[in-house]
Amino acid sequence: MINKHYKRNSSQADTSELDATGKTVFDDIYTAPDPRSYCEAMQALDYTIPKHALPMFSDLFQDYREQSGKESVRVLDLGSSYGINAALLRFDLGLSDLYQRYTSPEAQALTTSELMQRDRSDYCLQPTEKTVEMVGFDISAPALQYAQEVGLIVDSVQANLEVDEVTTEQSQQLENTDCIISSGCIGYVTTTTLEKIIDVCTPHLPWMGHCVLRMFSLQQLTTLLKERGYDVDIAPEPVPQRRFASHEEQTQVLSRLHELGVDPTGLEDQGWLYAWLITATPAVARAEQYYN
Ligand SMILES: C[S@@+](CC[C@H](N)C(=O)[O-])C[C@H]1O[C@@H](n2cnc3c(N)ncnc32)[C@H](O)[C@@H]1O
Repeated sequence: MINKHYKRNSSQADTSELDATGKTVFDDIYTAPDPRSYCEAMQALDYTIPKHALPMFSDLFQDYREQSGKESVRVLDLGSSYGINAALLRFDLGLSDLYQRYTSPEAQALTTSELMQRDRSDYCLQPTEKTVEMVGFDISAPALQYAQEVGLIVDSVQANLEVDEVTTEQSQQLENTDCIISSGCIGYVTTTTLEKIIDVCTPHLPWMGHCVLRMFSLQQLTTLLKERGYDVDIAPEPVPQRRFASHEEQTQVLSRLHELGVDPTGLEDQGWLYAWLITATPAVARAEQYYN
């Protein structure tokens, strides 16, 4: 349950703890009652991946609409957090505008309840994109609750399918998914989660767009997707995700890249994490597009 009267005073995320993959642990800011700490910490690290992923997501939805004949697309956002992708996709708002919305002195002065009220009335205003229906999927109940209460997402699935099985209720929420997207989430979420969602949706295969850090091997992901009937496309150039939060994080990630045989020259060795942009579409859909 969100503490709506919570007012923040501390702003600095602790970047000293690394997880098993070598990345900084951000658990506290993922589970705060509102997006302010998250936006502050991500802005400080120049977290830009949602901006780079946006054209891939929009193109995917457009191709899906054309192929399926459906006007409205139901999108599951894996690791949706406070509805960051939903805000960027549905409103005429850039990532820097979004950060500004939550880090400005005016926003800092509000309680969570007041911030929610402000967001609810702003997000009620006509979204520029009305044909995308966003469903949030995250392990963080407070983040999902915030996004849903202010109207960024129409439904939320709070789950950790890395360890748990899909419940009957979750299965009903997931089964009509048209597209699945993710930014900054693969790594926390692996093929274990993706396979469970694909199982629920089969025989209908949701179209997918994911951003995957170069520090994670793509092999398991692409193997799963191909086995389940997808064509997988990886954009030729990786895009920057964010700056390293500490020298220790960079050292750990460089050593992981070395183990994977990935050359960091000009990319991670310059102080930034980089990600691949990946789309996966049902092989049959692509064939139909080709022959029609
Ligand atoms: C870096 S944030 C990305 C948020 C958002 N997609 C963006 O790009 O701004 C990672 C998100 O993954 C979520 N997450 C971590 N482990 C998860 C799991 N096992 N299942 C679902 N979500 C998870 C976190 O709670 C967090 O909201």
